[in-house]
Amino acid sequence: MDVWTKNDQIIIENLVTEDTALLKAFEASGENNLEDMAVSSAQGKFLYLLAKIRGAKRILEIGTFLGYSTIWLARAVPKDGIVISLEYDKTCFDIACKNIEYAGLSNKARIIQGAAIDSINGLINDKTESFDMIFIDADKPNYPAYLKMSMQLSKPGTVIYGDNVVRNGELCNAASKDEKVIGVRQFIEDMGLSDKLESTALQTVGIKGYDGFTISIVK
Ligand code: SAH
Ligand code: DHB
Ligand code: MG
Repeated sequence: MDVWTKNDQIIIENLVTEDTALLKAFEASGENNLEDMAVSSAQGKFLYLLAKIRGAKRILEIGTFLGYSTIWLARAVPKDGIVISLEYDKTCFDIACKNIEYAGLSNKARIIQGAAIDSINGLINDKTESFDMIFIDADKPNYPAYLKMSMQLSKPGTVIYGDNVVRNGELCNAASKDEKVIGVRQFIEDMGLSDKLESTALQTVGIKGYDGFTISIVK
């Protein structure tokens, strides 16, 4: 076992308590033979704390998978708060809905099935109230589009968090032909060029390997 995993285990054992609802959502990928794409438990708690620090009442999550991060985020919003989470895949959507229900969070989390671009357009057309926090975690080639569209659902103070932007160190590979790498490179470039955002990014290591995230606040 690598040292990053060993250290993450210490962090998780001491600082992150997972109840059966979180464990169920976490274990659902293996049970359904799906590649695990959920955030680590330490990162899930980090997102939960970030939402609480922001005092977020309304959170948009782009990329639900099986609802693991959705549960963390929904637990961070108050009783009258909501997490709207977008998922394309019908199998993931169905499992996530069950996991949210099992967690007793059906009143605080709503999953919309469909391509996120269509769902976000729907939210914009419906003049949905802006979000306090937006967690971008779906298909990486569309990150630049998600950033642009997120701006339309934001207000001053909205926190935008982008997951998986370092990609085992490939972020710096300008010659990469990997569409995920090309997507996150453009995402970071657009973020830097935006005069409406203050942003930074941090690299991370742990149970999920070497990656990183961006964090921005809307001016
Ligand atoms: N946030 C989750 C992990 C999301 S993994 C967690 O941490 O627990 C990324 C998810 O985005 C996958 O479930 C994938 O099916 C979904 N996805 C990929 N392309 C999408 C698209 N165009 N629209 C909506 N969801 C998409
Ligand atoms: C992938 C997506 C994620 O959001 C993640 O955390 C890990 C992997 C992927 O598309 O492979
Ligand atoms: Mg991710």
